[in-house]
Amino acid sequence: MDNSRVTLVDHPMVQHKLSILRDKATSCKQFRELVRELALFEGYEATRDLPLADVDVETPICTARCKQVSGKKLAVVPILRAGLGMVDGVLDLIPAARVGHLGMYRNEETHEPVPYYDKMPEDIANRTVLVVDPMLATGGSIISAVTYLRSRGVTGEIKLMVLVAAPEGIDAVLAADDNVHIYTCAIDEGLNSAAYIVPGLGDAGDRIFGTK
Ligand code: PRP
Ligand code: URA
Repeated sequence: MDNSRVTLVDHPMVQHKLSILRDKATSCKQFRELVRELALFEGYEATRDLPLADVDVETPICTARCKQVSGKKLAVVPILRAGLGMVDGVLDLIPAARVGHLGMYRNEETHEPVPYYDKMPEDIANRTVLVVDPMLATGGSIISAVTYLRSRGVTGEIKLMVLVAAPEGIDAVLAADDNVHIYTCAIDEGLNSAAYIVPGLGDAGDRIFGTK
């Protein structure tokens, strides 16, 4: 694993909230709230390298030389369904970001992603893109998302925000594209025979939307 392209968000509050998220007794309501909160905290790390420009601000006392975010505008791209649960947390941090949607689900037998929907901001090629999906298991869904974004002209670094990742998935994603950075709150043991993350948190989409 190329550690320079993976950021483990190991802040104590993040780890505390992640433990509640993993608990099978956690309600759908609380699960949804925690996914949103964790996305905000992780977004804080994922935007740490955004460029700043100087700006003059008139305070009640004098003119102050301050900083504001500059450079490319941002787009948040959730992988449906589960990625939707992270969007509002990221938008709490970056309210002006545009949102592009990518629909795909995993075939339960092959574990391969099946794309079914896409809708991007027209200028997606000119934006810094943050892909959000709580689970990085085999990596198939995120690789498909990155391949799609490259086909839409996104050339810069793509930031991949997940909450729980399997080592196999991380390796596959890093091998598939040279210019991605993964942000995750946990790197788990691995995958089971159904390609679910162990210990993981179960099916993130079902737990966010209460469909099981
Ligand atoms: C989950 C998850 C990821 C994918 C991860 O989605 O949200 O998109 O699986 O697995 P992978 O790394 O092996 O591709 P799922 O297919 O369950 O769809 P859902 O979000 O609609 O529930
Ligand atoms: N998708 C999930 O929601 N959970 C897993 O553990 C793997 C894929």
